[in-house]
Amino acid sequence: MDPRSEVILRQLDFFKGTVLLAGLPADQLIHALKPQLTSVCAWSWHFGEYSVLKQLDSNCQFSAEPPDQQFDQAIIFLPKSKELTDYLLQRIASRLKPQGQLFLVGEKRAGIERAAKQLQPYGKTLKLDSARHCQLWQCILSAPVADKPLAAWAKTFVLEQFNQLKVVSLPGVFSHGHLDIGTALLLQHLDKLPKGDLLDFGCGAGVIGCFLKQKYSQQTVHFLDVDAFALAATRLSLAANQIAEDDGIHLIAGRGIADAPQNLGAIISNPPFHQGIHTSYKASEDLLTQAVLHLNPAPYSGSELRIVANSFLKYPPLLKTHFGHCHVLAHGQGFHVYQAKRS
Ligand SMILES: C[S@@+](CC[C@H](N)C(=O)[O-])C[C@H]1O[C@@H](n2cnc3c(N)ncnc32)[C@H](O)[C@@H]1O
Repeated sequence: MDPRSEVILRQLDFFKGTVLLAGLPADQLIHALKPQLTSVCAWSWHFGEYSVLKQLDSNCQFSAEPPDQQFDQAIIFLPKSKELTDYLLQRIASRLKPQGQLFLVGEKRAGIERAAKQLQPYGKTLKLDSARHCQLWQCILSAPVADKPLAAWAKTFVLEQFNQLKVVSLPGVFSHGHLDIGTALLLQHLDKLPKGDLLDFGCGAGVIGCFLKQKYSQQTVHFLDVDAFALAATRLSLAANQIAEDDGIHLIAGRGIADAPQNLGAIISNPPFHQGIHTSYKASEDLLTQAVLHLNPAPYSGSELRIVANSFLKYPPLLKTHFGHCHVLAHGQGFHVYQAKRS
């Protein structure tokens, strides 16, 4: 069991009534809590964790929005981003009944001590437990909290050098409020893509996919991400650029490349290599090793994977193994753009 869940189970007596679990790990916590609660509802914005949780309990929602109901208590699992923590606290507090209780649990190295300060505007806070390198904090609401809808948390920026493209990002989404240097390099090297459907893998706020749709307007663009906030931001970016969702646009909540469509003309990505506080290369390695299975086969040769990555990442050997070659299209400021074509 996740150490944060273990800390919650050490303090079972504190939890009662209708309880929301937000950003919970995909473990047995929900089952362990159920017998002593009136009801328990799980909210996840990570599609991988949601897919597991949904099998454990049907009262589970994948969304960037909290469930639309009132709760006695909510347990929030500390996310990596400070802005996302603010978002969760405010939106969830607005769902609590009078005198409702917010609990915040997280690992010390994830910054739970600092995050506990973000609880203070909502009422009296108390550290309930510290164990397994985690802390559990409690806050009893001192006053009702007004809701602030998702769109009000968005940050919009305009890419003047890229056709005035508008990007709308949300708390917790990669490169919130600005264009990543690696993505900027990739956007400069997206000429001459093959015909066929295009996939923006790990779309974040949708910057690459929106740029592709502007440039290759006749081709369908798929946007795939594991994170509900990324998909919500992508929707906002599409709308900001007047790209209609019924005009060859397809948003996919997916756990990785395995959830992508097949027979694609090209897969374009700034692949992920950070997940939460733990570094993970799995989604990227899966992309490099399995992309070929999702690209158009002969006779539609020339379908390709085009990615940007930190220069220190050892991606070229993987691409050479699975595509037989790896071209460097550009490099600069610590990033490389790689191209690998399906033969
Ligand atoms: C480096 S960011 C790139 C975001 C965006 N394309 C950009 O360039 O600004 C990588 C994205 O991959 C997503 N991601 C992480 N793990 C994933 C997985 N297993 N499957 C799909 N997307 C994933 C993250 O949520 C994040 O949005």
